[in-house]
Amino acid sequence: MTVLRTALDTAGAEYAERRAAMLGKLDEVAGEHDKALAGGGEKYVARHRARGKLLARERIELLVDPDTPFLELSPLAGWGSDYAVGASLVTGIGVIEGVECLITANDPTVRGGASNPWTLKKALRANEVASANRLPVVSLVESGGADLPSQKEIFIPGGALFKDLTRLSAAGIPTVAVVFGNSTAGGAYVPGMSDHVIMVKERAKVFLGGPPLVKMATGEESDDESLGGAEMHARTSGLADHFALDEPDALRQARRVVARLNWRKAHADPGPAEPPKYDEEELLGIVPGDLKAPFDPREVIARIVDGSDFDEFKPLYGTSLTTGWAQLHGYPVGILANAQGVLFSAESQKAAQFIQLANQRDIPLLFLHNTTGYMVGKEYEQGGIIKHGAMMINAVSNSRVPHLSVLMGASYGAGHYGMCGRAYDPRFLFAWPSAKSAVMGPQQLAGVLSIVARASAAAKGQPYDDDGDAALRAMVEQQIEAESLPMFLSGRLYDDGVIDPRDTRTVLGLCLSAVHTAPVEGARGGFGVFRM
Ligand code: COA
Repeated sequence: MTVLRTALDTAGAEYAERRAAMLGKLDEVAGEHDKALAGGGEKYVARHRARGKLLARERIELLVDPDTPFLELSPLAGWGSDYAVGASLVTGIGVIEGVECLITANDPTVRGGASNPWTLKKALRANEVASANRLPVVSLVESGGADLPSQKEIFIPGGALFKDLTRLSAAGIPTVAVVFGNSTAGGAYVPGMSDHVIMVKERAKVFLGGPPLVKMATGEESDDESLGGAEMHARTSGLADHFALDEPDALRQARRVVARLNWRKAHADPGPAEPPKYDEEELLGIVPGDLKAPFDPREVIARIVDGSDFDEFKPLYGTSLTTGWAQLHGYPVGILANAQGVLFSAESQKAAQFIQLANQRDIPLLFLHNTTGYMVGKEYEQGGIIKHGAMMINAVSNSRVPHLSVLMGASYGAGHYGMCGRAYDPRFLFAWPSAKSAVMGPQQLAGVLSIVARASAAAKGQPYDDDGDAALRAMVEQQIEAESLPMFLSGRLYDDGVIDPRDTRTVLGLCLSAVHTAPVEGARGGFGVFRM
């Protein structure tokens, strides 16, 4: 056996300090998650309930199998923007009649469930997850359509939502729409484009134009029910396949639809797996508060993989990147984890080789980020750091096995790219509250700006204002620090969520299970030209 040993001193001061820092950050994240859970706030929630309606998450709870987890995605979407945290939409992966599905639910308590630019990004991301992993989609619909004041940001790109639904269908991925309320204008194309449609009696309103618009357009007098009620669509237009008496009935019928999909995963569930030998709780005390001090990622690996069993690849070569093979909830994974932060030529070449091996063996890859980027300096440039970094980025870009990324600490510069950052299409990317990501560290960035400004003043023959420079540096540092934090990045949909380190194994296990719904096949060739 190759069980990892631990050097973590859980009784020591360093551990206590790191744990306290992580718990502090987790508290902040929990506060923001609470905002997403509160939806539109007490007044709108009370009004919604008074109408005899269930909240978005209550609908999901009734839809999924009892006592099964729901992996919510992007709960902090819209954070730091003018819109409510959560972006008036809930998305995630849940199990319905034993089938892992991508579920979306509008939150009608937030501005009538209208879609703002962040809602759109979140919905498009959900479609991407469904498509890449071949997960059936269930949409729980009740929305005021486009958020009208921000229509310019969403109307044109928003068309992709409907295109996605029909492309999923064309790819043989089932789509189910359950309509609980308003689904007007563009929204009507959600049921319109779905394979299976359920509508709730006297609640669903599915029409291209409501009574006022019809009156304006043609002069015709009409009402909601005759234009787009569930009964009309079930009996007359044929848009509704199933007529539900109330919300629980609609959710019951949605479960029956999924039960009859005859949906099979490409890979069977591997069954029960051995837990790690070390306590997941200890993941709180590994990452240093200020990220400057290095930490051994094997301490993390030991607490997330089955039996803490890890076969390291090239342990003596390129030692600031740890690579190796393990199983996680029974699924094989190849792990790339930054050890000392910086990526040198050897690490980059080792990564490229490792990624190719995983592709030959059809093994998904897990990237554990804590990198300040590729090494700079004369020695390294002359040693070919650009072409070696490019090899790694080439391998990551053209790899075909599923990638999962977790930002534990720093994820700076091109290191973020080489480690399969967001733009490299990892199937899932999560951040710990300790993570930071930017083009470079705040101090470095402020320092670079200052040097450039000083040189520019000198070139013009102007004196340089040193006091002004200090103030500018402080301001820039603060700004970049704020923009590097996980809540900010999650708000912009640059990850799929900020997770508690203790949940890492569970979250990755759920992701690996979802990923294996689609065939896992590596690239046998098809990499770009590797510069040697
Ligand atoms: N864009 C921006 N804000 C919207 C909105 C939209 N599409 N739909 C609703 N809102 C706002 C309302 O102005 C209201 O804000 P307020 O409470 O600050 O006054 C809040 O969301 C709740 O709306 P309200 O109408 O009170 O809720 P409701 O549950 O009674 O009705 C709708 C919900 C969606 C049926 C109704 O608001 C509606 O018809 N909206 C317009 C729908 C539309 O035409 N959309 C364009 C389609 S492309």
